[in-house]
Amino acid sequence: MSMVRNAIEIQNLVKRFGDFTAVNGINLEIKEGEIFGLLGPNGAGKSTTVSMILGLLHPTSGRVLVNGVDMSKNPQQARNEIGIVTQETVVEAELTAEQNLRVFGKLYHIPHDELEKDIDFALELSDLQNFRHAYAGTFSGGMKRRLEVSKSLMHAPKILLLDEPTTGLDVQNRTQIWNLLREINSKQNITILMTTQYLEEADQLCNRIGIVDHGKLIALGTPSELRQKIGMNNVIEISAEKENLPKLAAICKKIGLEPKVLSNKVVASGGSKATENVEKIIGAISASKIKIQNISMHEPTIDDVFIKLTGSEARDTAGSFKSSRGGMMGGR
Ligand SMILES: Nc1ncnc2c1ncn2[C@@H]1O[C@H](COP(=O)(O)OP(=O)(O)OP(=O)(O)O)[C@@H](O)[C@H]1O
Ligand SMILES: [Mg+2]
Repeated sequence: MSMVRNAIEIQNLVKRFGDFTAVNGINLEIKEGEIFGLLGPNGAGKSTTVSMILGLLHPTSGRVLVNGVDMSKNPQQARNEIGIVTQETVVEAELTAEQNLRVFGKLYHIPHDELEKDIDFALELSDLQNFRHAYAGTFSGGMKRRLEVSKSLMHAPKILLLDEPTTGLDVQNRTQIWNLLREINSKQNITILMTTQYLEEADQLCNRIGIVDHGKLIALGTPSELRQKIGMNNVIEISAEKENLPKLAAICKKIGLEPKVLSNKVVASGGSKATENVEKIIGAISASKIKIQNISMHEPTIDDVFIKLTGSEARDTAGSFKSSRGGMMGGR
């Protein structure tokens, strides 16, 4: 038995707004040291869940334990264990980076002699040392986010909770936030619970993922467990000139696969012996002297998992996706 403690425990959590059930009986345990991602489309219930974990919203029923402390019974103590980065940017535009941090530190009653050290540390962590005296209002979205993340750690919480920390950021800024979160997690051993609409983000950053839809947790596991759970095999892709694609499809069919011919490639589910099948295909290709550009095999992605589970459509190029309700994600 492992002795890993639960940083956050969510038991039968329900939130109704009038007749509408936003969170519909979620059970979840976030282990100490994890980077856990709650993945779901617009309106899935992510922020509502986050608000209940923070004690900002009272559950209709169920409960939240933070480091074993019941949020509804002992909110002050429970809240002290958590650093928060909310969905809306909350840095004060008319204050400098340093002033933003100082105001927050005072709010959390950090003693004066510690505060100056904490401010230096936060500026270093967010890589904003050179912008100490610059007004936060002049910062890029990514800089603001980094400032918020480091600010939320000033009262030395063990858990960091972030609601869509990278929504609306460009790829470069998103990568910076990912690196920052990885560093916080590995060097300071801070448990991270984050929500996201981005499939790649959950896949690349999170140790485990919970997929939420219509207020319910519909899947839970590591990224690779989730892929396996839906029973999809490896995917084989062969790219080649258009005229060669039908011949390649025929080769796939011959070994029992069901290929799809796309504009510049043939894609087939790899079957139970994908590696052997790739070898067979390569053998047949060289025997028949068909020219190809590339052949590759990959595991199904989290996109495949999400689409299969929620029926949601394909995503756009920014890495976000359309929800089953038709709203474009990540376009904030
Ligand atoms: N105070 C409220 N009163 C009524 N309905 C609400 C309230 N807060 C949220 N909802 C509804 O609950 C559902 C879940 O909202 P929530 O904000 O938790 O979704 P989300 O997963 O965070 O979505 P997004 O990705 O857009 O942030 C939505 O349909 C929303 O309209
Ligand atoms: Mg939200």
